[in-house]
Amino acid sequence: VKRVRTHHLREMKERGEKITMLTVYDMYTAAVFDEAGIDILFIGDSAANNVLGYETTIPVTVDELIPLVRAVARTAKRGLVLADLPFGSYQASPEQAFHTGVRFMKEAGAHAVKLEGGAEVAPQVEKLATNGIPVMAHIGFTPQSEHSLGGYRVQGRGDASDRVLADAHAMEQAGAFAVVMEMVPGDVAAQVSKELTIPTIGIGAGPDCDGQVLVWQDAFGLRTGRMARFVKQYADVHGVLLDAARAYRDDVRDGTFPGPEHTF
Ligand code: KIV
Ligand code: NA
Repeated sequence: VKRVRTHHLREMKERGEKITMLTVYDMYTAAVFDEAGIDILFIGDSAANNVLGYETTIPVTVDELIPLVRAVARTAKRGLVLADLPFGSYQASPEQAFHTGVRFMKEAGAHAVKLEGGAEVAPQVEKLATNGIPVMAHIGFTPQSEHSLGGYRVQGRGDASDRVLADAHAMEQAGAFAVVMEMVPGDVAAQVSKELTIPTIGIGAGPDCDGQVLVWQDAFGLRTGRMARFVKQYADVHGVLLDAARAYRDDVRDGTFPGPEHTF
């Protein structure tokens, strides 16, 4: 199999072929999503609240994410392995961003990194992109800034669309290979996708982005409870695991397992 590279993503945009991206945080999900042909295997800082038990992405550290990235990078044969830079690991300076990006590439085997922010992180994006670290930007709603943005809310409604457009162009100019747009009105995301030559990847940004990303625990139903409007549920992994764990529990309790066929 041929490895997905950043130039393939741009060629897909040019051909009008949609790009697929999912979060992935370990070996078996990496193997399954890679087998399914997901183009970008993304170790999000959302590992914080999907793997590590934090409530938000704010507390997670580079040291906590690196082993997860390494597991995915060791496993994936086709997908582009993209690592998220966590809060506080890149905002201070382009040098800090470069140092963190190097760690994800050298220690973990990432092929590219992602960071949150628009025009204000243009120097970071430029430093990474011009020094061998492909970088994806993330604009619109940026969860690491939830306390500045005033909670989980759609960004770029009405006059605020100017800001989203300006951030998108700033990221393309700084050398980002793609840009995630999170919780942006569909018409604004469509305009950004049309104006940019680099691909846009949407999450809660409508159908006109060049690709889509979801958190797999949300989309495939490992997490239960209240889901954002932009999530579509494709499976009930929680239900499958719950049934399996209960069946095992019952078998052990009543002596059905292990049977003679499981016994030496
Ligand atoms: O960490 C994450 O899951 C993200 C989203 C774009 C899905 O950044
Ligand atoms: Na993230």
